[in-house]
Amino acid sequence: MGNLLSICDIKDDVQHILDLACKIKAGEIEDKPLEGKTLAMIFQKSSTRTRVSFDVGMYQLGGRAIFLSSNDLQMGRGEPIYDTAKVLSRFVDGIMIRAIDHCDVVELARHSDVPVISGLTNVEHPCQALADALTIKEHFGTFEDKKICFVGDGNNVCNSLLLIAPLLGMDMSVACPKGYEPNEHILNIARDFARENNTEIVVSDDINVALDNVDVVYTDVWVSMGDEAEEIERKAVFSPYQVNEDLMALANDGAIFMHCLPAVRGQEVSTAVIDGPQSVVFDEAENRMHAQKAILYHYLKD
Ligand code: CP
Ligand code: NVA
Repeated sequence: MGNLLSICDIKDDVQHILDLACKIKAGEIEDKPLEGKTLAMIFQKSSTRTRVSFDVGMYQLGGRAIFLSSNDLQMGRGEPIYDTAKVLSRFVDGIMIRAIDHCDVVELARHSDVPVISGLTNVEHPCQALADALTIKEHFGTFEDKKICFVGDGNNVCNSLLLIAPLLGMDMSVACPKGYEPNEHILNIARDFARENNTEIVVSDDINVALDNVDVVYTDVWVSMGDEAEEIERKAVFSPYQVNEDLMALANDGAIFMHCLPAVRGQEVSTAVIDGPQSVVFDEAENRMHAQKAILYHYLKD
């Protein structure tokens, strides 16, 4: 049994899970592979896509999901993570958790007797990165010679993309203001993966440098959940990094625009780009479910 807290946890299985996602999306798996299985879903933060796609995904695989808001759990009143992990393990076959603090998810996984899947923390968003990889593969048919540029805040979504890109053979760049670079520890691991896979990682505050020869332009909100107190400062710092038509013009012909959503039109992305012909954001959102069904199959199927 394993857990999915980071893309590092599936370093050797990424391709397998993506192949599985394609098969599942094409309807090429057995009926109800997770019949009788239950997934507990703990949410300490808001969610639309993660919550609905895991819930519907479990249902379509023949199992069921239970939504647990941390406000309603005893954990929200101070019950130890250790006890929560041990008790839930007696009832369910897997735990999905969206948490404020990545360390809490690590602790939950350490004490859980069933697989724990992260549905986003302050450090990573591995399920999103898998759905994004599936979307890129579907659009271009290959990862070979492709380069993705993440523009904006070096946040949880950026961190998981930095880890998955080299594992799939893609180059990656990050265009971010000084002081908002990706997590240094993750960046070091990503650079190791890049060396092993002969790919390149570039982090620069210069948009022209980062946007060189790019096939996928990706951005995310300037103010992530938990960063609300810094909103005014962040809007000022990130405004030169808005993904608009001028910025998209720096990417290769045929480049696509991606965003994990939710998006703030007029901040990190212009309406013309997110609602324009290069945008694949709703295919990307749909792929959350297909990728997660593959994850659920991989972790919960006997
Ligand atoms: N992209 C994503 O995780 O969306 P939600 O916050 O709606 O789950
Ligand atoms: N970086 C964003 C992603 C939301 C899906 C956040 O953490 O709020």
